[in-house]
Amino acid sequence: MDKDTLNVAVVGAGYWGKNLVRNFAAAKRCNLKYVCDLDAKLLADQKKKFPFVETSTKLEDVLGDREVEAVVVATGVPTHFGIAEKSLEAGKHTYVEKPLTLKAGDARVLVELAKEKGLKLMVGHLLKYHPAVSYLKETIDKGGIGQPYYMYTQRVNLGVVRQNENAWWSLAPHDISVVCYLLGSEPVSVAAQGQCYLQKDIEDVVFATIKFADGKTANIHCSWLDPHKIRKMTVVGSEKMVTFDDMEATEKIRMYDKGAAIKHDITTSYADIISLRFGDIVIPKVPSGEPLALECEHFIDCVLDGKPIRSDGIDGLRVVRVLEAGQKSLKSNGEPINPEDF
Ligand SMILES: NC(=O)c1ccc[n+]([C@@H]2O[C@H](COP(=O)([O-])OP(=O)(O)OC[C@H]3O[C@@H](n4cnc5c(N)ncnc54)[C@H](O)[C@@H]3O)[C@@H](O)[C@H]2O)c1
Repeated sequence: MDKDTLNVAVVGAGYWGKNLVRNFAAAKRCNLKYVCDLDAKLLADQKKKFPFVETSTKLEDVLGDREVEAVVVATGVPTHFGIAEKSLEAGKHTYVEKPLTLKAGDARVLVELAKEKGLKLMVGHLLKYHPAVSYLKETIDKGGIGQPYYMYTQRVNLGVVRQNENAWWSLAPHDISVVCYLLGSEPVSVAAQGQCYLQKDIEDVVFATIKFADGKTANIHCSWLDPHKIRKMTVVGSEKMVTFDDMEATEKIRMYDKGAAIKHDITTSYADIISLRFGDIVIPKVPSGEPLALECEHFIDCVLDGKPIRSDGIDGLRVVRVLEAGQKSLKSNGEPINPEDF
């Protein structure tokens, strides 16, 4: 794009959309032109905070405005596909909150449409913009933990209890996107177990195991019925182990110089075949930055400068396939399901 400011509209100004409005209003190289919501009261609140924005309860007003170049969709998940499809059809670069859609088939349609129209399609996989995750990715890719073996994530708390989706769909998209990103491989099976305690057919707690094409494994534990607020991931590699604890104010990452090695030397005595190493624990300095602000600026920069998006439509599609496979597994008593079936 041969210009230096992007005209953006945010559709959906509810619980999460408000944060997107605030961040796009403050973002560099961005002109927040429109906020759209079905609820006129929410629009009035946003107009009070950002008097320069135009507001409308009608999506058509936003899509019909030729000055609007990019649309951010922060409505409920069942409406993502319809709104994103219209937005791309109208020639707008489109950012959709996670998860991209409810069905992998719909996500595929959006990916194809964006490609056909030469437009950017981004998915709000927020954690991929967390400076600590960027640090982990860089460390793993340059061999800082040796060969990554497996990882596990915990995203548990008491609430927010959703009524229209289970804990898997509500909480796991972030973790799925990060495990695929960090392990850098394609998921080939998802086996999920969970239970519905509070509401019929809506799982409050889910334990899911994802296996990857190259033998790596990840486990995701998500729940809104838990006494602890935990936002933590652990990656175990052949040389080192690393944790990312998002509840820590500053010391979010810890690198453990710990590991185990098998000696294949026939002269080694049986007792010495497995050697365990307990080395230093290092807390590296990680740059600060609000992930949502970084995510919004990434979208703007990629559209204006024609750069590839870190959480593009293909990534969104991959996450929806894993979600669908996990959902099927949940209802099949934990049977492993291949995401490629979706
Ligand atoms: N990235 C994150 O960490 C994060 C956190 C929470 C929610 N989310 C995502 O954000 C999205 C919104 O979730 P929420 O909790 O804010 O929901 P919400 O119900 O609070 O807000 C959705 C808003 O969309 C509006 N809306 C619905 N249909 C519309 C239409 N056709 N045109 C205009 N406005 C319309 C509703 O009036 C409502 O105000 C979901 O996709 C959710 O998964 C992301």
